[in-house]
Amino acid sequence: MQYDKEFLSFVKEILDSKEFQKRKKYDHHENESVYEHSMKVAYSSYLYAKKHKLNTKDISIGGLLHDFYYKPWKENTKKVPFFKKHGFVHAKEAYDNACKHFPNLMNDRIKDIITKHMFPLNIKFPKYRESWIVSLMDKKHSFEVLKHPSVWPQYLGLSKKNKKKEDKQWLILKYYFYYF
Ligand SMILES: [Fe+2]
Ligand SMILES: [Fe+2]
Repeated sequence: MQYDKEFLSFVKEILDSKEFQKRKKYDHHENESVYEHSMKVAYSSYLYAKKHKLNTKDISIGGLLHDFYYKPWKENTKKVPFFKKHGFVHAKEAYDNACKHFPNLMNDRIKDIITKHMFPLNIKFPKYRESWIVSLMDKKHSFEVLKHPSVWPQYLGLSKKNKKKEDKQWLILKYYFYYF
């Protein structure tokens, strides 16, 4: 993939960092690394922003860091309550981690992009057009990889396995959307 020079200039500091490079080894969805997934989301969001005259710098940084959570989520074996599962908490975690490693790059728009990319799972509405675009690109690229409905719970961070039986979790999710 040949990336636009402007895009690379916006995200150089992130790509050069050891911490972000570690994401090449973090399995995200269906054998795709967090690094590969984040690059896809960031670059497609950047291209869209460029075409539609949105903020290209913020969308590149926010897109690249939207899944900058601490550890490979599938390796987390600790039992947690339903609403503490990866799908619900990783956007906030990604933002906290981004603030820790790249405080100089953060601003309100980037915060919004990262913390609300899981909308509607995280129920607060994205405030900026750039946030909506990253959220949509994230879903587009995730579902290109997670083709079968049986593995969709992986996008939500509710299941690590490719199994069809996730009835209980889907039921809870249904009630979640009904009440919120
Ligand atoms: Fe995510
Ligand atoms: Fe993502």
